[in-house]
Amino acid sequence: MSLVITDLSKRYGEQVVFENVSLEVAPGEFVAIVGESGVGKSTLLNCMAGLDTWDAGSVQFDGVDLGALSADQRALLRRRQVGFVFQAFHVLPHLDVAQNVALPLMLLGRYDDARVQAMLDAVGLHGLGARLPQQLSGGQLQRVAIARALVHRPTLLLADEPTGNLDPATAAKVMEALIAQTREHGASLVLVTHSPAAATRADRVLHLGSKGIAA
Ligand SMILES: Nc1ncnc2c1ncn2[C@@H]1O[C@H](COP(=O)(O)OP(=O)(O)OP(=O)(O)O)[C@@H](O)[C@H]1O
Ligand SMILES: [Mg+2]
Repeated sequence: MSLVITDLSKRYGEQVVFENVSLEVAPGEFVAIVGESGVGKSTLLNCMAGLDTWDAGSVQFDGVDLGALSADQRALLRRRQVGFVFQAFHVLPHLDVAQNVALPLMLLGRYDDARVQAMLDAVGLHGLGARLPQQLSGGQLQRVAIARALVHRPTLLLADEPTGNLDPATAAKVMEALIAQTREHGASLVLVTHSPAAATRADRVLHLGSKGIAA
């Protein structure tokens, strides 16, 4: 899919988070957005998914203006096309690991146990499917969130600090899985991070700051 963001601005009351942010993500492209804590990376990513609102500008998803869709239409588009790795994981505590990973498939009526197991393998969680989230480490939870974001083969993967809780070796492996899974079916990947190391694999790196976004 292609993502086109034009002159996007976001404020909380008087406080400007970002202004006039424009960027395009081509089909299959991997774009990293880096910037210091608090510059609005998570906010921008939430806008890309239509999970947050903005004050000016537009977000177009394959030519469709997200701002013109109803909340239900946005939810449906997200469910079918978008994978989101949340900075705070948002793993459901009462479901086991495999059920958490299977959730996007269940919502689409396409449950597939082999696919769930393959995703657990891909992020190094083989054999942990029956555990509850509270029985996992922070880094393992992060990998559950990554497997869940990829399981339904989204055309756009939005990842918010997906390796923030991982040691360097596991982070490298997980980035490898993220890239391999998105490349496999030509999905676009937008990664936001304050870690320049995590951005090194990207086709393009953009810097978000108080003056907007730039290469
Ligand atoms: N609901 C809210 N009300 C008011 N201000 C908010 C709200 N949510 C976020 N902010 C502010 O918006 C700014 C951007 O937050 P955001 O979470 O997007 O930053 P970030 O770049 O992702 O930071 P980090 O690297 O720490 O995750 C911050 O200054 C934050 O305090
Ligand atoms: Mg953030």
